[in-house]
Amino acid sequence: MSILTSFMIGFEKNSGKICAKSLACILMKIFALFVFLIFNVMGFAQTQALSQLIYEIRNPQTGSARFRQALETIGEYLALNVLEELNTQETSVQTLTGVEAKHHLVDETPVLVTILRAGLPLNAGVHKVFPNAEVGFFAMSRNEETLKAKIDYIALPYLENRFVILSDTMLATGGSLLDAIQVIEQHGPKKIFVITAIASEYGIARIFQYYPNIKIFSAAIDPHLNDKGYILPGLGDAGDRCYGNKH
Ligand code: PRP
Ligand code: URA
Repeated sequence: MSILTSFMIGFEKNSGKICAKSLACILMKIFALFVFLIFNVMGFAQTQALSQLIYEIRNPQTGSARFRQALETIGEYLALNVLEELNTQETSVQTLTGVEAKHHLVDETPVLVTILRAGLPLNAGVHKVFPNAEVGFFAMSRNEETLKAKIDYIALPYLENRFVILSDTMLATGGSLLDAIQVIEQHGPKKIFVITAIASEYGIARIFQYYPNIKIFSAAIDPHLNDKGYILPGLGDAGDRCYGNKH
């Protein structure tokens, strides 16, 4: 068993009670840092463009309309960064001056996939960047006791050998995204990019434990999870902030 694996198993055992100061959490932080350095995580909290938007979604005073709008802009910004990762093809255009200009343009449209409810506004922003993209959906709910996600509905376009951009506003314990990725992987995609507004260090490390080739783009990366699986500082319940409380 590798050191990496034994670290992760330690975190798994702790996943029900995720505290700020236990030895496992400290080890997890070191591991997460290591993972971020060698794997594929892009965090954007330091950019001015996103810092304002993250402040707004964290702020409890932000109403649902503005909250969804901010998520949409975050989705658009992160999708523009994914665009840089896609394959391009040389194309030229003759302008009105009669002279040709050469360009490298992205030569295939990725498939977008999102998770209900909170993924919807984020995905709407991604869709602005890829307006012709097909979109797949997962309906999922997290059990508040076990923190495990349950899949209620799946509708996916053809995914084989295609780029997939999977968006969900929160990556907390990672359970919801891991379940979605497991299903998507069964369809043989070329590569999966994950877009999240706020990701926990724990959730990121957990995704890479199982899927090291995935690339994650997150507007913010937060250090802690509480014992109810909420990201700290986070923003609260993202689905409720978007659409109102569940009853
Ligand atoms: C939120 C969010 C993610 C999930 C993340 O959904 O949209 O799907 O939590 O948590 P995890 O990483 O621990 O799985 P939630 O279950 O609150 O549903 P909602 O979007 O309908 O509110
Ligand atoms: N889901 C949310 O909506 N918020 C969190 O902090 C964690 C999971």
